[in-house]
Amino acid sequence: MLHIPYEKIDISWVDRPLRQGQEERFLFSLPWVSTEVDVKEEDKGWIRDATVRLHTDPLNENVQKFMREFKDYPVSYVKPRTLEDFEGKDLQEGSHLDVDPSTPASLLSTFGCPVDPSILEDVIPAWMWDQEKILSKARIEGTDLYDPLSLVTYLVCYRLEWESMGWVGQDGFVGFLETLVNTREEKEFFQVIGWISRQAWQVMTEFCASMEPALTRFSKAKKEISRYISEEKGHYKFMEQVFRDLDLDKDTFPVGGGTRWLLDSYKRAAAISPLAFSAMVSLFEAAYYEEEESIAAVIKLSSRPHAGRGYELHRKVNQEYRHCDVSGRFASYLAPQTRSHALLTVGLFELTLNLLERMEQKLAKSFGIH
Ligand SMILES: [Fe+2]
Repeated sequence: MLHIPYEKIDISWVDRPLRQGQEERFLFSLPWVSTEVDVKEEDKGWIRDATVRLHTDPLNENVQKFMREFKDYPVSYVKPRTLEDFEGKDLQEGSHLDVDPSTPASLLSTFGCPVDPSILEDVIPAWMWDQEKILSKARIEGTDLYDPLSLVTYLVCYRLEWESMGWVGQDGFVGFLETLVNTREEKEFFQVIGWISRQAWQVMTEFCASMEPALTRFSKAKKEISRYISEEKGHYKFMEQVFRDLDLDKDTFPVGGGTRWLLDSYKRAAAISPLAFSAMVSLFEAAYYEEEESIAAVIKLSSRPHAGRGYELHRKVNQEYRHCDVSGRFASYLAPQTRSHALLTVGLFELTLNLLERMEQKLAKSFGIH
């Protein structure tokens, strides 16, 4: 499988006089992640070559070798395979779809899943994402079919780029929590943590059941899906730990309309589109793992620093099983997909991510912080 570097990767060599024994270094950066890398003398040649060719000659051997070094991070996408590459494999086709994803409103009204009236005011009026560009990254040459692996891996990067330009990606939500814990009565902060934990509890409680339709509708990946379901079972207990640590009652917090939509739309995707189902699982998981779980880190600023351990333990499990890769694992069981499934998938991503962002923004606004 070949990997194409995401178009926003930027490489800059650190210009500094080298002391004896010191290695050259470059900065590898994207709008959502950046890291400094030391280069050993013996690797200098091919790495310099790869960084120069990164975007102009992505299939070059050195570039491919370079990208493999970053395989644990969402920084590239799978190059669309050819139709021949899929031949002879026992893969899942997408069935006929009766959904009209031409606008957010038409997607919502034809998708076939319950819609909580409270989300209607937050539904985006038109698609803003460049759908044709996204699809072009996954199109199988000479066809109007799409490589599922290319689409899901590209969408993860595209989502991160989109988020980095908005409120959530610019630490709007974490910033709101920090302001709260630093400037308000602690009771208010814990109420918000209670609200967030209720959303997480609800997701963790219903998540496994929402995937069940895929066990029959996406039968080629049944084993993989069953394994993931068993890895996700019982995770709500992590959140019950948080409620106990904060002396809060989970039943006093409402389930937000965005959370309801996330779960209901995922269940519907599991029943009608194995491609959308494979892609959307990444909305429930981190795209990569940072040093610290962000909610746990903010809780540490409070008088009950230990109360974040439910979040930390959950993150640990996800990291151990590399749940950030589940989307790609599911997609590897898919045959080339039609344009209608690809468009539904992109639409669901944009719609859902906007709803979740609006929900979090409204929470911050209700505390006068935004
Ligand atoms: Fe997980």
